[in-house]
Amino acid sequence: MKVFATKVIPDNAKAFLSANNIVVDEWTNQTPITKNELTKIVTSGKYTGLFVLGAKIDAEIIHAIQRNIQVISLLSVGYDNIDLHAATMAGIPVSNTPDVLNDATAETAFLLMQNVARKAFYNYRRIMEDKWHNDSFITNLGVDLQGKTLGIFGLGKIGLVMGKLCRAAFNMEVIYHNRSRNPKADKTLNAQFVSFDELLHRSDVLSIHCALTPETTRVFNAAVFKKMKNSSILINTARGKVVDEPALIQALQKAEIWGAGLDVTDPEPMQPDNPLLQMATVAVLPHIGSATVNTRHRMAQLAAENMLLGLTGKRLKTIVNEEVYSIKK
Ligand code: DGY
Repeated sequence: MKVFATKVIPDNAKAFLSANNIVVDEWTNQTPITKNELTKIVTSGKYTGLFVLGAKIDAEIIHAIQRNIQVISLLSVGYDNIDLHAATMAGIPVSNTPDVLNDATAETAFLLMQNVARKAFYNYRRIMEDKWHNDSFITNLGVDLQGKTLGIFGLGKIGLVMGKLCRAAFNMEVIYHNRSRNPKADKTLNAQFVSFDELLHRSDVLSIHCALTPETTRVFNAAVFKKMKNSSILINTARGKVVDEPALIQALQKAEIWGAGLDVTDPEPMQPDNPLLQMATVAVLPHIGSATVNTRHRMAQLAAENMLLGLTGKRLKTIVNEEVYSIKK
């Protein structure tokens, strides 16, 4: 059996599948695979499974590949890049990689928070520009995090780790806004469930950890930034589209909020001339939330196990369209 991966995947996954007589072909080009290339390859009749790493899989692709592909295994926890309804209607089970990346992603949010608070990227740039001394005792200062209030938008498993890190390191108070309460967070972090407006008014650091859905798309917009503290820091390690990026740029320029740390942008990749990259209180990373050796290894293992289960007609471990099993292809 042969499966196709839209990027190169870690060796452990290939070894696991090879031991089960499954060969993985990969897209090895530096440039991301296009819709046409993907459709052409996957409809060649050679492949029965598809590993998706970042590529957008819309209804048109699903329709084209449904005769060949028995399972789609994502190497991500987010699945907003897949038309899940189309996959379900086509009878294709789809899996993601939850939990194994909680620590790495939360650590990225924590890293960005500290980076912005002390203008770390900006100060690094000063050294590169030979401006080490271009400062006085009272200029270019950062902000303290000790005892501040961390607000979490979408407190799930990643937000829980972020909350723990912030409490342990800086004794931060944790407040959050979700569709429903998170009893584990209430208990382990002594977190307080608040309305969206209260979250905006009270957070010193506001960290976004929600999934991208129609309800969360550009929920952080101009009106929302006006309600946040002028001294606040926005952190986004979830999805770029949760934030209205032009409105964020304006809010920072007008000093409606103090800073922002982004591991995700809209669009991705961010263009090198984006004004955010020049701001002293902004830190941007190129979507590296899960990018540690161990985490990528664990994601690949889970994705490979899901692939094998799907190809042998078994229920996937971490399926995101459970209802596919009650729909006949
Ligand atoms: C995820 O796993 O969803 C990460 O953001 C990578 O896309």
